[in-house]
Amino acid sequence: MSGQGLASVEEIDVSAARRIAADHRAKGNSLVTVLQDVQAEYGYLPREVLEVVAEEMQVPFSQAYGLATFYASFSLQPQGKHHICVCMGTACHVRGAVNVLEKLERDLEIKTGQTSEDLKHSLESVNCLGACAAGPIVVVNGVQHGKVNSQKIDKILGELD
Ligand code: FES
Repeated sequence: MSGQGLASVEEIDVSAARRIAADHRAKGNSLVTVLQDVQAEYGYLPREVLEVVAEEMQVPFSQAYGLATFYASFSLQPQGKHHICVCMGTACHVRGAVNVLEKLERDLEIKTGQTSEDLKHSLESVNCLGACAAGPIVVVNGVQHGKVNSQKIDKILGELD
C-alpha cells in the first residue's frame, strides 16, 4: 500500500495577495494600504504572503516585514475566531486586571499574545482603552465589558460559540 505524504503545514494560496498588491501598485498606493487589504483577505500576514507582496510592490522583503511588525494592527500569526483583549493600564491594573488576565490564560489555556491551537481564541493585552472608571476592561470581539471579574469572565466565555 502506497503511503500518502502528509503536509505538515497547510499550503497558503498567495494568488489573492498577488492580485491585491498588483492592483494597489498600479494605482500608486502605499505598502501599508496593501498590507491592510491583504490582512483583511487572509486574517493575518503569513510569511509566504509577505514575500509575494514585497515582490509585487518591488520592495525588499525586510521592508514589508518591518512594516508588518511595526504596526500593532498587523499580525504575523493566525488570529482566533474570538479576539479577547484585556486592558492592563494603571487604572485597570489596580482594579484587578492581573487576576482577570490570569484567569483568561488559565481558562483558554493560552498565554497573552497567543492564539489557541483550534484557532478559537486569541488573547491580548493593551494599555488603557480610555474607560478607566469602569475597569477592569475586557474587549471581546470589539465589545467592551466593564468591571470584569471571575464570574463575568465565565459568563462572557460561556456565551462565545
Ligand atoms: S487603564 Fe484600563 S481603560 Fe484606562
